[in-house]
Amino acid sequence: MRLLPILALLIAGPVLAQTPIDVDKEFAFAAQQYRGMLQSHPDTSKFPQSSKPDGSPDDRKSSWWCSGFFGGSLWHIYQRTNDPFWKEEAQKWTMAVAKEQYNTGTHDLGFMIYCPFGNGYRLTKNEAYKPIMLTGAQSLSTRFTPSVGVIKSWNKFQQYDYPVIIDNMMNLELLFWAANNGGDKRLRDIAITHADNTIKNHYRPDNSSYHVVCYNPDGTVAAKKTAQGYADNSAWARGQAWGLYGYTVMYRETKDKKYLDQARKIADFYLNHPNLPADKIPYWDFNAPGIPAEERDASAGAIAASALLELSTHGGSSAKTYYQQAERMLQSLSSPAYKAKPGGDNHFILVHSVGHKPAKSEVDTPIIYADYYYLEALLRYDALRKKQG
Ligand code: GLY
Repeated sequence: MRLLPILALLIAGPVLAQTPIDVDKEFAFAAQQYRGMLQSHPDTSKFPQSSKPDGSPDDRKSSWWCSGFFGGSLWHIYQRTNDPFWKEEAQKWTMAVAKEQYNTGTHDLGFMIYCPFGNGYRLTKNEAYKPIMLTGAQSLSTRFTPSVGVIKSWNKFQQYDYPVIIDNMMNLELLFWAANNGGDKRLRDIAITHADNTIKNHYRPDNSSYHVVCYNPDGTVAAKKTAQGYADNSAWARGQAWGLYGYTVMYRETKDKKYLDQARKIADFYLNHPNLPADKIPYWDFNAPGIPAEERDASAGAIAASALLELSTHGGSSAKTYYQQAERMLQSLSSPAYKAKPGGDNHFILVHSVGHKPAKSEVDTPIIYADYYYLEALLRYDALRKKQG
């Protein structure tokens, strides 16, 4: 008799053996770490980013592309706890980014503005956040040139004047929000045109993505490259996760089936890749030459988990797989293998992310956006579990 459950488990396979994540426990840990983070960051002009190689905290200014993630993470904790302490801190760190609404020198305004203000507005309906997001979206749109058909990412990359990185898919959500909330309706068209040209020019026949595509003024492609990946033709892990998340948002905002198909194709590339480890947290590049002796990227794992959970809500024959794989990713991230030491690791939640390996920058360290997408994924996971009953 005792053998029966073991037998059932063997027949059903390891997926059914997954134990659910204790979301309360994980948020209690996050809150404990971030209380320490707030104590060690009394000055809201110094944004927690990561740890330096010597272990000391690496803080950045509001103009750095990651400045919105700390406020956004505080909103995630507030959403879970409903504790006014977190609301107050989230408000403070959100407003600390407000001046970036006028920044037309970056394509990252989606990350910088939407992660803190978008979550804050969703949770509190604070009307003061609205004009800031509308201005941010307008600033972002100045980087779109109709004859090229995409939003420019960086002002220069190598000898190229119009580089676009796959990460840019993440900034489109702000444009949709603005178009739906009193902003220029053209912002929506810009997002759609950018997403369509990105499918055309960033994606390879195997559904992996280049990191950087450099455009000519007439919209033709000058070069396909990498900056943060191993090689021009490799699959940089976080880039695959950004694309997966970006096209899932595109489907949510447009209900155009082609974006759902694209998101599914990216998910299938990612999940079926022979170099995806058993714990489902990728190496920093799927084609990194020294696998398995290469660093993992917990941030890519967190972004992919969050995206897959949303993608799993859109039905289709793979919906259950996407949910189960995301759950597996969150189990791994919630295990001691990827969690910061309580009270340590500069009070981040996760460790083992890779920012820019070729530049030897942020290699195998905590990074603020890993925490942000991990918390977002936990919230999504919990909501889906409650819905399932
Ligand atoms: N450029 C954004 C990233 O490192 O993913």
